[in-house]
This record gives sequence, structure tokens and C-alpha cells, in this order.
Amino acid sequence: MYRSHNCGELNASNINTEVTLAGWVQKSRDKGFMNWVDLRDRYGITQLIFDESRTDNAVFELAKTLGREFVIQVKGTVIEREAKNKNIPTGEIEILVSELTVLNSALTPPFTIEDETDGGEDIRMKYRYLDIRRNPVKNSLLFRHKVAMEVRKYLFDLDFCEVETPYLIKSTPEGARDFVVPSRMNQGQFYALPQSPQTFKQLLMVGGMDKYFQIVKCFRDEDLRADRQPEFTQIDCEMAFVEQEDILNIFEGLTRHLLKEIKGIEVDKFPRITYDYAMKTYGNDKPDIRFGMKFGELNEFAQQKEFPVFNTAELVVGIAVPEAGNYTRKEIDGLIDWVKRPQVGASGMVYVKCNEDGTFKSSVDKFYDQEDLANWAKATEANAGDMIFVLSGPANKTRAQLSALRMELAARLGLRKPEEFAPLWVVDFPLLELDEESGRYHAMHHPFTSPKPEDMALLETEPGKVRANAYDMVLNGNEIGGGSIRIHDKATQQLMFKYLGFTEEEAKAQFGFLMDAFQFGAPPHGGLAFGLDRLVAILGGQETIRDFIAFPKNNSGRDVMIDAPAAIDNTQLQELSIKLDLK
Ligand code: AMO
Repeated sequence: MYRSHNCGELNASNINTEVTLAGWVQKSRDKGFMNWVDLRDRYGITQLIFDESRTDNAVFELAKTLGREFVIQVKGTVIEREAKNKNIPTGEIEILVSELTVLNSALTPPFTIEDETDGGEDIRMKYRYLDIRRNPVKNSLLFRHKVAMEVRKYLFDLDFCEVETPYLIKSTPEGARDFVVPSRMNQGQFYALPQSPQTFKQLLMVGGMDKYFQIVKCFRDEDLRADRQPEFTQIDCEMAFVEQEDILNIFEGLTRHLLKEIKGIEVDKFPRITYDYAMKTYGNDKPDIRFGMKFGELNEFAQQKEFPVFNTAELVVGIAVPEAGNYTRKEIDGLIDWVKRPQVGASGMVYVKCNEDGTFKSSVDKFYDQEDLANWAKATEANAGDMIFVLSGPANKTRAQLSALRMELAARLGLRKPEEFAPLWVVDFPLLELDEESGRYHAMHHPFTSPKPEDMALLETEPGKVRANAYDMVLNGNEIGGGSIRIHDKATQQLMFKYLGFTEEEAKAQFGFLMDAFQFGAPPHGGLAFGLDRLVAILGGQETIRDFIAFPKNNSGRDVMIDAPAAIDNTQLQELSIKLDLK
């Protein structure tokens, strides 16, 4: 038996017990005649004491040779500590060691295994197994486990069945590039790793599985960001004989369950807003509604005056920033420079200070009188003491710019509070999105999403106006999940591929299996998928998902610990009939 207890559980009630512990040496303090060692495992830290007058001489001497991160086993007696540490559960006791076995020595770790480490990101990723010994990383993994367990509990209770779907498949379009895997047995042919199990879960519905879920790895070759990894995990769900309303209710229930069980927070029914409203009001389809600063459209009050910039703009739009009325000229100039950065791309910004006495002072006083500015204040719901910032230009671009400013200011003002949770549904997404480069429409969610029946007629005439039975769940400004009601008949699916620019042959070659299945009694069905990594990170009060993944990839998509991706042997290449032509 390696251990009778773990390093986090002994306390005053165990005094005089004989115990065996095993773990890592966190640190030791050698006072000559007395030597203390902090022994650490996943559960905590227990103090060991080696005392010249009470400890066997050989054990006492051996203890002096212990280095940081040595793996040891000790036997000893639990005794009361003289200098108690109220901050840890084991702080009232220590172990007077009688036997010590060094199970393994350790090189000095390249960074300190402390909550606040001296190791930079790169070195910690290279030695991720050491990083995982640190509390912040370990706790994030435990937290993720807890969330996944609660998800399973909730879904099992509702009769969902977890089914595994294959990883070696044919491309499923979710808008990113595929990772591909060459096949040795089918020379010149490739599997694609799933961007999601989308087509398989639909086939499970045709198979009668009715309520499916899977906590599943998905693979997307796309540019990395704080909330994106090339391999990530979805809580993927699908149901048969449901309407959008059923799905929203069940998965709102799941999110509510998680907030309650994990965070102890009860939330009201989630607000639902349409995609159009989200874009007009927040410039964004994943609005953070923990704070206001809603957009006010000002065309009506700002055009046909003497200010040419606004007169020629498609959209003039502003936000009222609370308590920003006292920003200095320098701060305002700083913000103007911020919106002019290429990442945001505004050409300039107008500001209006809302004075406490109800008057206004603006950067465009030459063109607008107090009454005009009062209208702007009304449209942006500004209060005395606020500052209104106004951008103008092409509608979509300007909304995106103002949205970036809104989020930046909220962060600066401390309004993005990590322990506050504001979930919502965004519904009625457009079915199609125009790709400006190619001039072609592509599916905004994916090609299996059903148009709203009442918008079907618009497909021929105004495809951009067709709305889909598609929805996203948004939490604190992050899209954590999305889904749709699916097409379940061959004719509509064929039509959809046609509108997406597929020839009949292309559609058949890529998705014939699905359209065939639709001919054998496909039930109406729909579903959604949550990003588990994102959900866990946000519940954990953070937005970087990497911290909640045991072995994540870096910004270039590399695993620096195992050094992947890497070249493969010539023999492997030959077996696959692959000839490299590297430039
Ligand atoms: P979608 O593409 O919206 O839908 O993905 C669902 C959720 O997965 C998460 N996600 C990611 N998380 C981390 N890294 C990534 N690269 C990444 N990409 C997506 C997001 C997102 O909301 N098959 C459909 C779902 C359905 O229709 O049922 C799908 O995959 O949180």
C-alpha cells in the first residue's frame, strides 16, 4: 500500500494516528537539528517533520538529501503542530516521520511549482505535466471535469443517450478547413477529421435514437484565438420530433442547471433577441448584456445639417458611456486613436459630453445645436455625466467598429464582471450569408439548417433575407453554443445545395448518403452543440480556453511538448504513396 491517506485530509482529529503518505516534495526547510518538508499531492499539502532528537538517524540524514519534486513515501505519526497554519485544512498537524523511501528523484524543475510561478507561457507548455502540478492548472482541469459530470447528469436524467460517432470521416462543412488523414489501404484517398458530428447525429435521428448527446472532440483547421483551438470539445446534442421551442427550453435548462450546481447562481428565463435586433443594438451577434451602452441610431438627427461626414454616411450611430463625461481631452484622443487602429478601422469619432446641468458640449458644436444633441442623447439613452461617442460609415462596418469600442470601454470601466452571468438566446439567424469575395452565398450555420417555412418563397428572389430556424446561446459576450432545426426531406436539402452553388453531382458525391437517408423515413429533428471549452472557461470567469485544456496547442497550432506536427518517415510516406513537394 503506497498510502493510507492523501495529503489534503489529515487534521486534528487524526492526532496520534500512524499514517503512510506519498507525494512530491514541495519544499524543505532545514534548520540543522530540525527539517520540515511540505509533501504535496493532488489533494493538498501536509507538513512532515524530521527531528534530530526523535527521528532515526539514517532517516534524518536521508531527508536532508531531498530535492524539490522528489517523489517520496513516508510513514509516521500525526502530531499537533506548534506553529499552526489556519489557511490550509491540514494546518493544525504535521507528520513525525519514522520511515522515508525515495520513490524517485527529480531534476530541478525549469519553473517553480507555485500558484504564482516564475515560468513563462512557452516553458510551461513545454513541460505541461509540471504545469499541471500547479494549483491553478490542476483546479481548472478539476473544474472542467465537474462541469462535464453535471452535463452528463442533466442529460441522463432526461433520457439522452451518449453515442460515439467516428473520427475518420468525410468532410462535414462547418465553415473551417478540414484536417485530413491519408489512407494506406485506399491509396490517394483521405479521411477528414470531423469539424463536428453533424451528419452522423442526424443519421442517428433517422436511426430512431431520438435523444442523442456526445461529449466529443471536433477538429477545425482555422486561425487560433483565445477562444479557439484546432481540436476542441463539443457537448453535441440532437433530438427527433422537436421544434425550436423544445430545444431552447431543454438547453436553457441545462445552462441553468450548470449555473446553479457549479456557481450557485439562479438565473431568470433567458432573454431572446433576434439576430437583426442584436446587430442593430449591439453591432454583434453575441452581445454582452451584462451592461447597457445600447446603440442609438442617429441618422434622423445628424443628417441634412452642415456636417458632410455624417450626411454622406449610410449609418450614424452612437453609444452613451456611463460616467465618461469627465474624460480628459487626452483620454478622448487616446480613444479616437484606438478606434482608428487598423484592427478597428474607424476613420474618426465624434464625442458629446453630457453636462450635469443638462447642456451638451461636443466636438461638432459648429454643426449641431443643443436641441440636436439632446436628440442624440435621447436616442442613445444618455444620462447627465455620460459621454456619447459617435461613429459613421457603411452600416455593417460601422456597427462592428462601435461594437469593438463598446466592449473595450466596458472592459476599461470594469463592467465585464467575471462573476456575473448574463445568458441569452439569439434567434432568427439569416439562412445564407453573402461571401463578398466570391459573390456566392454560403450557409450561415451549415447547409443542413432549415429555412423558416414562411420565408421559403424568398429563396428565389431575395436569398439574403431568408431567415433560418437557427439559434445561438450567448453568455457574457461569447457564443457558447449554436444549433438549428434541420431539413429532413430530400427535396428541400437538394434545393439548399442548389442555392449554395453545388451541382447536382457535387451534392450527391458529398452528401448523397444523407439525402438517401432522408428517403427512408427521416423524422423532423434539430439540435445544437455547446463548446465545452468555452463554457467551462466562462463559468470559470475567464475567456482563454487554453487554460482549461490539459494539453492545448499554442498559437501556431503546435504542441510544443511532444513537438507536433512533425515530419514523418520516408517509409511511412511511401506506404501512403505521398510525395512531398515542399517549396
Ligand atoms: P458550431 O460550429 O456553431 O455548430 O459550433 C458549436 C460550438 O462549438 C464551439 N466552437 C469552438 N470552440 C473552441 N474552438 C473552436 N475552434 C471552436 N469552434 C466552435 C463554439 C460553438 O458555439 N454542428 C453544429 C451544431 C449544431 O447545429 O447542432 C456546430 O458545430 O462554442
